[in-house]
Amino acid sequence: MRQSGEAVVESLAIRPPLRALDLGCGDGTTAVPLAQAGAEALGIDIARNLVEAGQRRAAEMGLANLNFQHGDAGELQGVADHSFDLALSMFGAMFSPWPFDVARELVRVVKPGGRIVMGNWIPNDPTSFVSQLLKTSAAFAPPPPEGFISPATWGLESHIVERFGQAGVPADRITMARDTGGSEKDRREHPVDLKARAPTETLIHSRDRANKSESP
Ligand SMILES: C[S@@+](CC[C@H](N)C(=O)[O-])C[C@H]1O[C@@H](n2cnc3c(N)ncnc32)[C@H](O)[C@@H]1O
Repeated sequence: MRQSGEAVVESLAIRPPLRALDLGCGDGTTAVPLAQAGAEALGIDIARNLVEAGQRRAAEMGLANLNFQHGDAGELQGVADHSFDLALSMFGAMFSPWPFDVARELVRVVKPGGRIVMGNWIPNDPTSFVSQLLKTSAAFAPPPPEGFISPATWGLESHIVERFGQAGVPADRITMARDTGGSEKDRREHPVDLKARAPTETLIHSRDRANKSESP
């Protein structure tokens, strides 16, 4: 999946200086290329072993502008309001059981005029290996507890609009696109890998300065 992080960062046309948050960062698939592109990057993940692995990677790569910390996407303790120009989450925050809290936290930590970008798998997508894998494993798993909200609902436009709407973001500030992920080079060199992680849905939200007073 390493190339997927590079492709996302490439598509964002990062122009330093900027502060970037990678939520549900794993060991830095996207946070590392963000830092390499010149961002002051922070990766947050709920898995402490991945946070440690990310810290090791950053040290080995000599990336002084990349840090990792433990945290929960639904409650970003110790992360100040309006502290990032860009907050992104590639298949990470979608796994929080509290999707409305995730949207609220993403909006809270991004500066007015900043961007939120999410990559989420689309439920039941016939062209997506991961979507099919999730669907198949769910069929063999015991029924989820009452109130369980499937991570795959982050791949549905109506849910995205509702969640960010509750966080104060008007629908006309939300853009969604289906994407197979990866770069052209990836597609040529790793067609099978790419198929395995396609497609994604990307949300790009620019907080509107004019709506600053309406946002939390
Ligand atoms: C499919 S992996 C994606 C990792 C990375 N973003 C990437 O693209 O390689 C999902 C990640 O989300 C993290 N995660 C799951 N629930 C989380 C939560 N509530 N808060 C923060 N991270 C979470 C997992 O620990 C894992 O690292």
